[in-house]
Amino acid sequence: MANATATAGMVSPHVPGMHAGGRDMARLGMVRCWRRARRGKVMCAAPPSSVNGDVLMGNDVSKPRRLPRVVGMGSKLIGCGSAVPKFEISNDDMAEIVETSDEWISVRTGIHKRRVLTGEESVKGLAIEAGKKALEMAHVEPDEVDLVILCTSTPDDLFGTGAQVHTALGCKNAWAFDATAACSGFLVGLITATRFIKGGGYKNVLVIGADSLSRYVDWTDRGTCILFGDGAGAVLVQATAAEEDGFLGFDVHSDGQGYRHLNAKTSVGGTEEVIPSTNGSINFPPKKPAFSFIQMNGKEVFRFAVSSVPRSIVASLEEAGLTNSDIDWLLLHQANWRIIDAVATRLQIPSEKIISNLANYGNTSAASIPLALDEAVRGGKVKGGDIIAASGFGAGLTWGSAIMRWQ
Ligand code: ACO
Repeated sequence: MANATATAGMVSPHVPGMHAGGRDMARLGMVRCWRRARRGKVMCAAPPSSVNGDVLMGNDVSKPRRLPRVVGMGSKLIGCGSAVPKFEISNDDMAEIVETSDEWISVRTGIHKRRVLTGEESVKGLAIEAGKKALEMAHVEPDEVDLVILCTSTPDDLFGTGAQVHTALGCKNAWAFDATAACSGFLVGLITATRFIKGGGYKNVLVIGADSLSRYVDWTDRGTCILFGDGAGAVLVQATAAEEDGFLGFDVHSDGQGYRHLNAKTSVGGTEEVIPSTNGSINFPPKKPAFSFIQMNGKEVFRFAVSSVPRSIVASLEEAGLTNSDIDWLLLHQANWRIIDAVATRLQIPSEKIISNLANYGNTSAASIPLALDEAVRGGKVKGGDIIAASGFGAGLTWGSAIMRWQ
């Protein structure tokens, strides 16, 4: 099993979007990487003989859960961007919509205000703006992009909005798709991007997280409507030599049992009206497709997050060959300050290493991680070479983490 997978992974990649240096990069496709130093170099070598398929497929939990990684290409994050709607709703404004107060919301969540789409604004518009800024920072032209992944659970179109975003950005040599994993969406998109680079020979992948949960919130339910805001964030992930891989480790999970704690179900409601049949055989009532409002058991989601996220980050750190003291920045999905604080405490990460802009934007779902990253990079906090531990978690349930180096 191990050999079969490893062999498949070591085939020199086809390089559709690879421009200069493609042959060199394909040559690097034969490297196996085991441990990575804190900054800079990847340690690449033949796998230790004790690690083989039999051990890994067994129940020895002290061993890595995945097969040894065969690195085709490395990935690095070289640009970011973000966009938020103009309309802002403060906690005091919320108190005029539902029975709540600035104090309750601030103390229980850490949120002070949020932005909400209005008028002509759209998820697509925010995604385009964020993507454009990421390309500019990365100094990558739109026609150099090979793939656009739009991470969203709230596309403007049920069939997906990614293709419209990629066309509007002028990424004429790319293809695009939407990735749906709620608040884990950006992490899922990011990991997917690195897989296309590693195994598919892609060079530039634009990952955009954009969501408008305000569209699916029951604005009479004070338990949920105070939490969410709209926004978009993007990163440009670029192929690099395996030795310079900046995507150091990751860990992802899903649990359909937990679906009951957080969802926005589709409901295809019938109408009273029945279409009279023309041939007397079928009366087929027209259906009106819709989504229900977001339903959330806040306490269960809270419990799930504070237990699952630290475990996931530890697993990613192990894969990266790092420890919590190597983390420069903890960048969690911006759901609730108490969750962020609890995770940081469990991981013994001091508060000055936490990136958070939750206070200003609330929970922006798939946008929250890249939106916070963008602010931290442009604000001069995150610098080239910094190690970031990121984690997304939310509906599905889904959760995961990644350890990565900025630039
Ligand atoms: N203002 C005032 N009172 C409120 C409000 C409000 N906005 N909301 C609830 N209350 C009341 C409740 O009615 C309840 O009153 P009672 O004691 O008289 O019955 C009391 O406050 C406590 O309510 P709880 O729901 O128990 O409050 P809790 O401390 O659990 O905080 C919260 C609620 C903030 C939602 C918290 O549970 C939470 O953040 N959970 C995690 C949510 C999350 O992270 N989601 C992320 C994923 S989102 C995604 O994937 C799409």
